[in-house]
Amino acid sequence: MQIVSISSLKGGVGKSSVALGLASAALENGLRTLVVDLDPHADATTGLGVHAPSRNTVGRVLAKRGKSGALGGIAVASPWSEAHDPAAGSRGSLDVAPGSSQSSHFDRATYKGSELDRLSRALTGLESRYDLVLVDCPPNLNALTRMAWAASDKVLSVAEPSLFSVAGTQRTMTAIAQFERGSRWAVDSAGVVINKVDMDSAEHQHRVRELNELFGHLVVDPVIPEHPVWQRAQGAAWPIHRWPGDDARDLAQRFSTIVRGLVNSVK
Ligand SMILES: Nc1ncnc2c1ncn2[C@@H]1O[C@H](COP(=O)(O)OP(=O)(O)O)[C@@H](O)[C@H]1O
Ligand SMILES: [Mg+2]
Repeated sequence: MQIVSISSLKGGVGKSSVALGLASAALENGLRTLVVDLDPHADATTGLGVHAPSRNTVGRVLAKRGKSGALGGIAVASPWSEAHDPAAGSRGSLDVAPGSSQSSHFDRATYKGSELDRLSRALTGLESRYDLVLVDCPPNLNALTRMAWAASDKVLSVAEPSLFSVAGTQRTMTAIAQFERGSRWAVDSAGVVINKVDMDSAEHQHRVRELNELFGHLVVDPVIPEHPVWQRAQGAAWPIHRWPGDDARDLAQRFSTIVRGLVNSVK
């Protein structure tokens, strides 16, 4: 089981969108996947077509000290699983541990080191049930994000090709390195996903080059283009791999490439 968290300092860069694109790709590629929605806004839960119940949310599990394996008990199947064509011959499945405002209790800058293992503990013992766990984080580096990092094999930071996002990504990557040094939690690897790229924009090309110069091999290939079809599929709470048209197919293939790289690279 590979645990991958998707985080960044900034909101609106596409963390939840990247989590959803990866979830869609994982399903299509036959992986049994759990999306853990840590963000109190619960956008990933909504995007996966799940209405968060008032009980049985991630926040509730964390409040109960992250009882061992407890996320397995609250996981619900996303309707995306039904969109998946079993005739494709794969065993993929997609569950979500729903987010809610209950997790906002932990959305704070101060925390005790002993709190950081709550998510990790709540995922204990789920190895036989899932191949991949995707953790969608809130737009800050507070306690919830730290819990995600502590639990993760890999942290993906999402960046837009803009000056402020490049600066934010530098701060995020520095924070991950400090987190590694300052705690008993090792983050095995980190990566930068570049999202919302306008392929025709010289400014975007410049920022993509800059991100590559700054982060080298950590930059995930391919980048994700900005395209309105993405918002249409999200608005319908439907997987991009099942959305019609060439633009959706291009996006879907990019996410599939990233997922295959993730599954092969994380130990
Ligand atoms: N590649 C993309 N192309 C077009 N729109 C995108 C893309 N990625 C994200 N968006 C849109 O940008 C907005 C913010 O994305 P979201 O995933 O909610 O960001 P975050 O989780 O980082 O706050 C959403 O309306 C989403 O549909
Ligand atoms: Mg989000």
